[in-house]
Amino acid sequence: MEQALYAEDGGFYRRSEGPAGHFRTSVHASPLYSGAVARLLGDVDEALGHPAELALVDLGAGRGELLAGVLAAVGPELADRLRPYAVELADRPGGLSDRVVWTDRVPEGVAGLLFANEWLDNVPLDVAEVDEDGVLRYLEVAEDGEERPGGPVTGADAQWAARWWPADEPGARVELGAPRDAAWAAAVGGLERGLAVAVDYAHLRADRPLFGSLTGFRAGREVRPVPDGTCDVTAHVAFDSVAAPLALHSLWTTQREALRALGVRGARPALALASSDPVAYLRALGAAGEAAELTEPSGLGGFGWLAQTVRMPVPQALRGLPGWQTLTP
Ligand SMILES: C[S@@+](CC[C@H](N)C(=O)[O-])C[C@H]1O[C@@H](n2cnc3c(N)ncnc32)[C@H](O)[C@@H]1O
Repeated sequence: MEQALYAEDGGFYRRSEGPAGHFRTSVHASPLYSGAVARLLGDVDEALGHPAELALVDLGAGRGELLAGVLAAVGPELADRLRPYAVELADRPGGLSDRVVWTDRVPEGVAGLLFANEWLDNVPLDVAEVDEDGVLRYLEVAEDGEERPGGPVTGADAQWAARWWPADEPGARVELGAPRDAAWAAAVGGLERGLAVAVDYAHLRADRPLFGSLTGFRAGREVRPVPDGTCDVTAHVAFDSVAAPLALHSLWTTQREALRALGVRGARPALALASSDPVAYLRALGAAGEAAELTEPSGLGGFGWLAQTVRMPVPQALRGLPGWQTLTP
């Protein structure tokens, strides 16, 4: 998975077309999304007491689309203090504002908002399957996509499975999340103070997918997740295990609830507007359609939002959100 997605020579995410050439994330779906992140950033700034430099770290930044949108949405006072970082393994795209720091390392010692949209599902991990004798074995994949059982799962992976994803039914699969948990902990460790938000397809321990969730995408279609560099390889994220190692105040909800709290709603404009100001009506109708896509429960709205505070209070807009659950380590 590591080689297939990120090899300098031929890794899927090094391809020139970028993620948007293969699937549609919330960032691509509508500028309302970067507007909501800008609003959240404003609340983080407030909670941090308006520091002289406010970082916005976009982890797994794709082609910098989210940062470009946030830069366009924030007011001049905040923009002056904003330090936008795009953390990305792919090369810097042309046309991005000079203000954006393009780096393959998460910055350290910064204060602000760390935001990772659809990053964790692409952190390489191993998959295991329970055999006929109830033994959990690594799943091996040949280059042509053929799967076969490998050696038994041991060590840190076995401990992780026992705690976070116990499975004993023959054929059941486990996506071994320890490397992903470590990757998130390392990234959040770069925040001196601030809010870390991960947005992704997610599940909790009570609700793991019996046969796993590993899948592939190529050119807008779901395909078999063959790790040959021609398609995305992605697995849904165990948010409870990701949150646990940090022992921070951790909250999770759905994207629908989070975006609503940040002012994104799918209500259609009043019909009367169509005759009084048809252009405004059409614009409002378009925005309502985009908001509906971002908040649709069976689509992007069903994604999980994991928010963790590092030496700061929960930002205003997210306080008292009805869907929030507190995750205990
Ligand atoms: C699914 S895309 C999401 C892009 C963007 N956040 C969006 O929502 O449109 C995941 C991105 O994370 C990047 N990525 C994965 N692992 C990374 C790492 N360790 N450091 C930096 N970027 C990484 C990939 O190259 C890819 O561009």
